[in-house]
Amino acid sequence: MENLLNQLKNKLQSSGQDPENYLKGLQYNRPINYWDYVQVDTLLSLQNPRTEFKDETIFIVYHQITELVLNLIKHELNQLCSGTVEAKEFQVKIYRMVRYTDLLISSFSIMNKGMSYEDYNQFRLSLAPASGFQSAQFRFIELMCTDIDLLIPTFLRSNITENTKLEEKFDYLYWQEAGYNRETKTKTRTLSDFENRYLPEFIALASKMKDNNLYAQYKKIAQSLSANDKQELVNALKAFDVKYNIEWPMVHLETARTYLLAKGEAKTATGGSQWEKYLHPAFQRRIYFPELWSQNELDNWAKE
Ligand code: HEM
Repeated sequence: MENLLNQLKNKLQSSGQDPENYLKGLQYNRPINYWDYVQVDTLLSLQNPRTEFKDETIFIVYHQITELVLNLIKHELNQLCSGTVEAKEFQVKIYRMVRYTDLLISSFSIMNKGMSYEDYNQFRLSLAPASGFQSAQFRFIELMCTDIDLLIPTFLRSNITENTKLEEKFDYLYWQEAGYNRETKTKTRTLSDFENRYLPEFIALASKMKDNNLYAQYKKIAQSLSANDKQELVNALKAFDVKYNIEWPMVHLETARTYLLAKGEAKTATGGSQWEKYLHPAFQRRIYFPELWSQNELDNWAKE
């Protein structure tokens, strides 16, 4: 006990605090509760349906769950991209990201099977032009995972040269295909609202990630690894690429088909994209770590 008190005293003194006052103050602290620590009341006050349809609450809560899980992925990426994580720890963190993505994949049936088709197709009409497309965390994650040039589809890459400015590259990212009409040079409201709100943050992050994204960090670390260790890391990164960029998009697309295609007619999505084409991972070809895949694997990427 005395040893412990001395350690505490040293810690407080070294951070400029007075140990005696600190200990006196402890007498008045209320014990922490579960509900305060987890902020349960705040958490449960964040669901505000726009209609009377009961299943809208499921839709909102599940989106919020997804945003929390994406935040966990970002939490690992923040550390991985800082350049201070060693090889073994690097692999541990990638597998955490794989597990979080597994959670997103296995739980998506809450959307696909867990809402009334009729209710969904009514309450969703009150949500346009909002769309999951406007999830900024989804875009932050991709900018942290890979080089921005790899988010430009092959059919648009000829527009990019060594001199293309970072901010100009954003007009060619794969996700512009959801709302940018290149002939008329117009953007849907969903896309322009999203860019007005977040583009400066995206550009700042892409700039910060230029040589620090996950793919770049892997390349730095791989140089000093044995063949075996390198292969283990490659397996982890490939597992994440396939879960995040094929399996999760596929359960999402299946769900869109369930609600927007099921009864014979293709319905317009709230974000207004040509969603059947756009959402397919074989069309998007979002591949974070392309050099880790064989040519055959790349040729058959996400083929159903
Ligand atoms: C019934 C459930 C859902 C349906 C029918 C659906 C449908 C769609 C559609 C049609 C799009 C294309 C953009 C548009 O035109 O609106 C889209 C995009 C998107 N949705 Fe959903 N969605 C559902 C649930 C979710 C959930 C729970 C999330 C979690 C945050 C989500 C996240 C996204 C993201 C990130 C995109 C952009 C994907 C990309 O750019 O590759 N969606 N969704």
